Amino acid sequence: MDDKQGRPQDGVRLQKYLAAQGVASRRAAEKLIAEGRVKVNGRVVDTMGYKLDGERDRVAVDGVLLGKKAPRLRYILLNKPCGYICSAHDQRGRRTVLDLLHGVEERVYPVGRLDYDTAGLLLLTNDGELTHKLLHPSQQVDKTYIAEVAACPDGAALRRLREGVMLSDGLTAPAKVQVMKRRDDKVMLELTIHEGRNRQVRRMLDAVGCPVLRLKRAKLAFLDIKDVPLGAYRELSAAEIKRLKSL
Ligand code: URA
Repeated sequence: MDDKQGRPQDGVRLQKYLAAQGVASRRAAEKLIAEGRVKVNGRVVDTMGYKLDGERDRVAVDGVLLGKKAPRLRYILLNKPCGYICSAHDQRGRRTVLDLLHGVEERVYPVGRLDYDTAGLLLLTNDGELTHKLLHPSQQVDKTYIAEVAACPDGAALRRLREGVMLSDGLTAPAKVQVMKRRDDKVMLELTIHEGRNRQVRRMLDAVGCPVLRLKRAKLAFLDIKDVPLGAYRELSAAEIKRLKSL
């Protein structure tokens, strides 16, 4: 049934359509809409509730018309080296993680970010629904990091990490943390958090007096980066995709 403006009430929401087309995650699609970069049938639509008539409407982003056929969904597990940024372009001309994906034609996006100077597990996909789900705070997906630190945390520091650390943007949720075997005089910590604040692990460890020397993400939920060499990637298996979607 159509509403007063003639829009189909049961049509798909514009931001959901953009995510399904692999344009961006649902949240980033909302931003594109709010910025007036999305046109439907040649007119800018900057309202969130807009519903599409999938059969008739022609949607364009930044002037590029989207195809009616959804692209192949890709799920890529990359072992990111340091020295790459997690966005499609960099104003300073630095290398991006997309430079590491040879032969991936679809426009994939990182699920969350790793700092330029952080290595390890990065999931990239063009499945906007899954990205939205995994990044939503209610999901509390565990992320495990291995940090080489300049000083071994004492009992009080470990307690603070485990109870929550006060940062400039508020108290963190408790982290799981353990001191791994010290190798070659290095102090290595394994730290698991489920929040995704900017430079969170570095800031938490700074706050308890153990600045990070090197940082690597080892796990995301049940996914592990052990079997992927640094700089390489693999596709997720059908079973892994199913499991991620059912988290
Ligand atoms: N925490 C950090 O400090 N940096 C990252 O890249 C990821 C988590």
